[in-house]
Amino acid sequence: MIAKHRAAYWSPSQAAASLVQLAYLERSLANLLAGWAVKLPSFDAKLAFGMQMHRSMERATYLRSRVNGLCHATASEATVAAGLRSVLSHVDRAQTPARLVAAIYRWLYPRLIALYETHLSETDPDGDRPSIDLIRSFLPSLEKERHEGLSLSSGRAADKPWLRELEELWNRRTAGEPLSLANGLWDPVDRVPAAVRPEGSRFGESGSLGLLPVDPVHDKRDIGMFLHKELDEEFTTLELIARNSYEHPDMPWAFHRDMARQASDEARHAVMISRLLTARGFRHGDFALTTSSYDGIYAFEPCEAGSRRELLWRMLIRQTFMEGLAIDNLGYEIGHRRSVGQTDIAAVFEYILRDEVFHAQSGLRWSQELLGSDPQAVLKERDEAIRYFTARAEAARESFVMNNLDAALGELAAIEAGKQSRGGKLPERPLNRIGRVQAGYTGEDISQIVSWSYAVDDPVAR
Ligand SMILES: [Fe+2]
Ligand SMILES: [Fe+2]
Repeated sequence: MIAKHRAAYWSPSQAAASLVQLAYLERSLANLLAGWAVKLPSFDAKLAFGMQMHRSMERATYLRSRVNGLCHATASEATVAAGLRSVLSHVDRAQTPARLVAAIYRWLYPRLIALYETHLSETDPDGDRPSIDLIRSFLPSLEKERHEGLSLSSGRAADKPWLRELEELWNRRTAGEPLSLANGLWDPVDRVPAAVRPEGSRFGESGSLGLLPVDPVHDKRDIGMFLHKELDEEFTTLELIARNSYEHPDMPWAFHRDMARQASDEARHAVMISRLLTARGFRHGDFALTTSSYDGIYAFEPCEAGSRRELLWRMLIRQTFMEGLAIDNLGYEIGHRRSVGQTDIAAVFEYILRDEVFHAQSGLRWSQELLGSDPQAVLKERDEAIRYFTARAEAARESFVMNNLDAALGELAAIEAGKQSRGGKLPERPLNRIGRVQAGYTGEDISQIVSWSYAVDDPVAR
């Protein structure tokens, strides 16, 4: 068959205009998923959102660099119109999770895929070859994501008036002032101080010590409890990190890439921990759930709601403090689990440790960035944040004990029993110096954590 002759293909600036629109849609998609992961009750949806957020952000990054390549020679900038932002911020205002899922997977994905396909058919197959290769590499995962996304919906008929509203805005997407890719997103539409869980979930009470496995090494049910706690940590971290990106669209592009990668890592961790739990006959929800690592690290009285300082405190507490302790803990658990023959747990923890080092590193990097790269300021703010955080936890504890004396005594008995099962000793958390150093903790950062007695630095192990 003789190929049909084509009079003209797109020029480089037309190709750049198409690509910047695609990059904007992908970046916006990552932003929508980041904002909504915590608001969807379904755990499967949270996992899908965490992983897709990362893929969208990466696609946006590749497209952005291609746009820059096409614009560089003429010192031009490709932009999108404010009309496009109006469509996407309207999707973000979906009133229910079902509307959001329909808007993204029934409505937005087909349009996004169609725009990618238009690029393939209109652009110069030789001049714009790199874009074609890029888009061809994206299409299979876009189809897969759309398919997975559709399975998240309840199966009820799509809300027609809602989709019509979106379509009307879509038809006006090229109208309005030009927006650059770097700062063209919309402001967050809400605050979400409490993580949403499936209806009917059972929760541990605020101020209680939560699940207290007595013998998480040998007893099957206690191992299940231990893994269940881990699973809740993975979900709450995914949700918090995603909101950190969503609530601060004006942070640098590289920040959002780091947050998206971490959200996706946490989703993979949750999948791996669920696997371990299932292998032991348990499911998420078999024990009381906790969302304290989201709800308790979302807002702080000394920080203005939505401020950079609030973001800084969230990162200092979750990423540089708690994930630092996770580096220590995992380092210990890996060897210990292996020594008792639990090689499946050890292997999963080895993968998680590798990611945890990156998460702490990213927390250190961005908290330094927010404090003008002043290491003393980081130590001081971390000290203040942790003092506030522990004082608040102690107050919640005190009121729990006052109102639930019997339950509190039961908790103490469980701790005592746990101590007995370890030969009368409380668990010590040995510092994982190599992991900490690889993550970028300075000597002063490490001294700070040791001085707070959260980790024991064994000089022999150095
Ligand atoms: Fe994790
Ligand atoms: Fe993590």
